[in-house]
Amino acid sequence: MRDFEEYIAFKALVEEHILDFLPEVDPKSSSLYEAMRYSLKSGGKRVRPVLLLAACEFAGGEAREALPYACAVEYIHTYSLIHDDLPGMDDDELRRGLPTNHKVYGEGMAVLAGDGLLTAAFETMNKDMLIYFDDPVKLKRRIRASHEISKGAGCRGMVAGQAADIEAVGRSIAGGLLDYIHLNKTAAPVVAAVKAGAFIGGAPKELLAAIETYAENLGLAFQIADDILDVTGDENELGKRTGADRARGKPTYPELYGIEASRERLDELTQTALGTLAPFYDNAEFFVKMAKYLLNRTK
Ligand code: FPP
Ligand code: MG
Repeated sequence: MRDFEEYIAFKALVEEHILDFLPEVDPKSSSLYEAMRYSLKSGGKRVRPVLLLAACEFAGGEAREALPYACAVEYIHTYSLIHDDLPGMDDDELRRGLPTNHKVYGEGMAVLAGDGLLTAAFETMNKDMLIYFDDPVKLKRRIRASHEISKGAGCRGMVAGQAADIEAVGRSIAGGLLDYIHLNKTAAPVVAAVKAGAFIGGAPKELLAAIETYAENLGLAFQIADDILDVTGDENELGKRTGADRARGKPTYPELYGIEASRERLDELTQTALGTLAPFYDNAEFFVKMAKYLLNRTK
């Protein structure tokens, strides 16, 4: 990522504003706010909001207009990680090199910090929509963006994937179900982020369709890379325990197909993602670099 200037610039914008859209809380709720802030400020690659901002520019908009939606997407991502780490789910003690939220604030508060973040995402987007109340074109783009984000995050997207993931633990499952889990748990929020950005930027139909296919392939590739790194990665570099998937009996690509075949699939998905952007290559430099970066992470 060090030589990926555009990524660094978008990420800096996200870091600068990540707390700006959180609703003001009553001082009596300060521990709730602290728990929400702890996870929001504890690093992370900010992949989803960066993709959202980049998609907005790709579509001809200005990244800054899409910031509330980018931060909303990161609020949702952060909530999902807090809940995913809970004892009733993946039961993890370490995330991004730091103790997980419930290890610091207790399980009850971690559940609520997640709830607070998820709700804040929709408050943030609604507040932004109100600003555009008298501009039907821009308002419609924002409603579309928020609708896309709700679908990707909810029970037709990430939550559905997470539920299927829980049910699959310890069972041997078919490749089709594994793809279903990955497409929902990981790819759906990535697709939603990219489409939301493209909507806000005012993307024409052809561009929207191309970037959606790109994001679906990239999202799936992202999860396969994550699964490969769980087997081959370095704990210090990743900031979390490796080998966790296997220890938990998780269905993963490497488990089902082996490392080599997983790498091949990752390569194939990257090529497909790049192919869909071919008609837009002149402007798609960011997305081309992004796909290649992901592929190289596992090497
Ligand atoms: C790591 O993201 C996350 C994934 C690879 C996706 C796994 C999906 C979940 C944990 C969904 C959980 C959903 C619910 C509803 C609890 P990342 O590598 O971008 O992490 P970073 O933000 O630390 O960089
Ligand atoms: Mg999980």
